[in-house]
Amino acid sequence: MLKLDKLTRRFKDTVAVSSASLDIPDGQMVGIIGRSGAGKSTLLRLLNRLIDPSDGQILFGDNDIAQLRGRDLRAWRSDCAMIFQQFNLVGRLDVLTNVMTGRLFEMPGWRAMAQIFTAEERALAVQALDRLGMAHTALQRAETLSGGQQQRVAIARALAQQPRILLADEPIASLDPMNAKIVMDSLRSINREDGITVICNLHTLDTARDYCDRIIGMQDGRVVFDGTPEQLTLGMARDIYGAEAGEAFNEAATSTSLGARPAPARATA
Ligand SMILES: Nc1ncnc2c1ncn2[C@@H]1O[C@H](COP(=O)(O)OP(=O)(O)OP(=O)(O)O)[C@@H](O)[C@H]1O
Ligand SMILES: [Mg+2]
Repeated sequence: MLKLDKLTRRFKDTVAVSSASLDIPDGQMVGIIGRSGAGKSTLLRLLNRLIDPSDGQILFGDNDIAQLRGRDLRAWRSDCAMIFQQFNLVGRLDVLTNVMTGRLFEMPGWRAMAQIFTAEERALAVQALDRLGMAHTALQRAETLSGGQQQRVAIARALAQQPRILLADEPIASLDPMNAKIVMDSLRSINREDGITVICNLHTLDTARDYCDRIIGMQDGRVVFDGTPEQLTLGMARDIYGAEAGEAFNEAATSTSLGARPAPARATA
């Protein structure tokens, strides 16, 4: 269980995350929605300690995450892998090496620097790539892949980390509908088959509805909705999205599956 207790992050005068309290059981697939600036990315970054809280607590089991330092902090970051809108692969390195760097957290520094990987690490990386249907690209430079392929490699890299939690910050915002569906289907199968908790920031409501067990709505740093997709009425969702409602709702009201409709994407890669 991941427990947030009055978690708060301020940047000068801005309260990016304001007293967020949430219990997230192991194995849940959670979608975080909200307009731009609502605090979605900040919340994910707090969870894996890319940034530190100003106030409040993050607990995972018996561990007080905000207090972790050194090796314990590295272990936590490895336990909660993160994927990003822009994939964050190293373009000039081959796909397999990119995936193996998912294990860097657990490697002594010299081995990481020298990019020396064990047979077991290679096997794990190939397995993760295979799972995402990308094993055939293992020796290609990452920059030669399409956006959708790069995101699948980024997910394989996260998987190779053998995380307990997978954090995804708008993983499909740069993808076309077909690739968006492949990526969301992959996240769902990782969640269902491996029991890994997935917490995913999503820009469009319809995707959150289709894929998530639970939706958390944020507005001005606060959690303003926390419930199942069925509990989220259109009126509530409109409140959460405010002025961005049009963009978030284009297809939401009428459709039920990603594959059946036009792009949820904000931009193309
Ligand atoms: N490093 C930072 N320094 C100063 N302000 C920040 C920083 N990171 C975030 N903020 C502010 O915190 C608020 C929340 O930002 P955040 O990036 O979490 O929003 P978001 O919901 O992810 O938005 P988007 O949908 O545009 O990605 C915003 O007002 C933002 O300007
Ligand atoms: Mg964001």
